[in-house]
Amino acid sequence: MKNLKVGLSIIIGALALSTAIAADKKEVPAKKTTHGEYKDWRLLSVSHRTDKKTLRAILGNDKAIEAARSGKTKPWPNGTVIAKVVWKERAHPNWAAAVVPADFAAAEAMIKDSKKYASTGGWGFGHWVDGKLEMHPKETSDTCFACHIPVKDNDYVYTFPALK
Ligand code: HEC
Repeated sequence: MKNLKVGLSIIIGALALSTAIAADKKEVPAKKTTHGEYKDWRLLSVSHRTDKKTLRAILGNDKAIEAARSGKTKPWPNGTVIAKVVWKERAHPNWAAAVVPADFAAAEAMIKDSKKYASTGGWGFGHWVDGKLEMHPKETSDTCFACHIPVKDNDYVYTFPALK
């Protein structure tokens, strides 16, 4: 009887464990949307690419904002996500000297996970498609990373947080 109980509890334990593992696996697609909320994130900085004629807002998730405000960005902590939202530029119709956003162009992402993305400086590169964050395939990420290498000393990030 005692053995049966022990046996049963082992089976129940194993079942609970496999359910937990299954639940863990299921989290992968859910995780994809976790970062889709960049529209609610706070501002890290802005930029204006005069060569590309685009305006950019650089936004950060809570982890990124916290790191920037406490000056702990060398390196940025794991869990940091930086979003770069790009719009074509245009002159304001009522004030030609004011450059304002026109059509949306892209929303790019950099995600810090020093283990997972060790081969690209600890950063994963992706973009939002219809509000969902999708990571770029290896070849694309390598291209992204290559152009961020010049700012290696700034943990591969170009943005200077504008904190005031
Ligand atoms: C030709 C060079 C180049 C390539 C290729 C490139 N970037 Fe960048 N990236 C920049 C520069 C320059 C900035 C800073 C100016 C700006 O805000 O656009 C930047 C800024 C960023 C930022 C804001 C954080 C930061 O570093 O300032 C993100 C996020 C980003 N890039 C993602 C990507 C992704 C994803 C790819 C690949 C699809 C990519 N980049 C490819 C040059 C590049």
